Amino acid sequence: MRVPGDKSISHRAIILGSIAQGKTTVNGVLHGTDVLATVEAFRKMGVNITAPNGGTLSIEGVGLNGLSPPQGELDLGNSGTAMRLMAGLLAGQKFGTRLIGDESLSARPMRRVTDPLTQMGARVETGPQGTPPLTIHPVRGLNGIHYVLPVASAQVKSALLLAGLYAKGETCIEEPVPTRDHTERMLRGFGYACTHQGQGICINGAGALQGTEIDVPADLSSAAFFIVAATIAENSMLRLLHVGVNPTRTGLLAILQKMGAVIRIERRREVCGEPVADLQVESARLTGIDVPREQITLAIDEIPILCVAAACADGVTTLRGAAELRHKESDRISCMVDGLRGVGIEVEEYADGMSIRGGDIRGGLVRSCGDHRIAMAFCMAGIKARSSIKIEDCGNIATSFPDFFETARNSGVNIHAA
Ligand code: S3P
Repeated sequence: MRVPGDKSISHRAIILGSIAQGKTTVNGVLHGTDVLATVEAFRKMGVNITAPNGGTLSIEGVGLNGLSPPQGELDLGNSGTAMRLMAGLLAGQKFGTRLIGDESLSARPMRRVTDPLTQMGARVETGPQGTPPLTIHPVRGLNGIHYVLPVASAQVKSALLLAGLYAKGETCIEEPVPTRDHTERMLRGFGYACTHQGQGICINGAGALQGTEIDVPADLSSAAFFIVAATIAENSMLRLLHVGVNPTRTGLLAILQKMGAVIRIERRREVCGEPVADLQVESARLTGIDVPREQITLAIDEIPILCVAAACADGVTTLRGAAELRHKESDRISCMVDGLRGVGIEVEEYADGMSIRGGDIRGGLVRSCGDHRIAMAFCMAGIKARSSIKIEDCGNIATSFPDFFETARNSGVNIHAA
């Protein structure tokens, strides 16, 4: 099977394509609602973007200074990536904007991006709790900064790189541990220099991006549900095609392999600057481990499905150093702990993670907390459950994996909408 296009790369392709000169074609783009929110925001700022047709869309780039003031607010729905990256891009514009989101996005921390933007000379207001809406006032210009990220975040790094396009001088960002580097790779694909200097990644303002053709690989974060499904189901063998295997994203594969999973990474190649491979996965017996802390950032979006794998493993799996999970589409630590306990799994909760003792999964009712990845993770827990698991509030699965139910059914998962 081939799962839908990578969400992180799809957002970036639309953002950079919109401010490039000339046409950009994006193949394999994700048509999840998160990405569609980004498309809609740029359309509102005067960019001509075709509807995704058979996974391809084209963008008539308006150039770095060609965006026009939108009518009304830009609604970024459930998407933290869209809001944080666009905050960086819009901070340097000659017009003001207001960014809003749904209930979940409206509770997510934004000062991590507005603080460094303010240091660059931007004027961005958050709500009183440091959450959306964001009100971005026009400024005459931004200044480059050297910034050390206090929290590892590719969204903040990317926001500052995008603001750096509009800044005088050099903007350099140092990260405590490596985070996904799709923005840096894609900037280079658009012909924009972005260089590693010491611990940091640096960009100079006032250059130009040239429209290009982008091939978006299948999203490893979506493939993750099927990688774990094929591992925990009996007698299964699954081949996942054209999956993005950027080393800043492959923590889950390393962790599962350490637990005993049989995952072969085949036909490695590079497509548009991104590593891609086919993955072959077979059923395997898993053993609980202490998850290496250095893998956490590299597996950050896959922790919910990793917790399901841990519930199916022999022994205890301990996951620490993952406090960031409390600031995702939901508080993923508390929501996973509640959900796992609700289906009979013994879990200890910590401020920065949890310990899960593998055991028998009962059926039961699980709250997804409106979080797409938690909903999909518990769907896969159903494979091993003694009776059925009912998961509430699954609508947001469409943010990242619109055909999830059909894909799961086609791969043999007994699943239906209630
Ligand atoms: C993303 C970065 C990560 C990740 C999110 C997508 C991105 O967030 O969890 O789903 O596309 O840059 P943080 O930057 O908050 O770690």
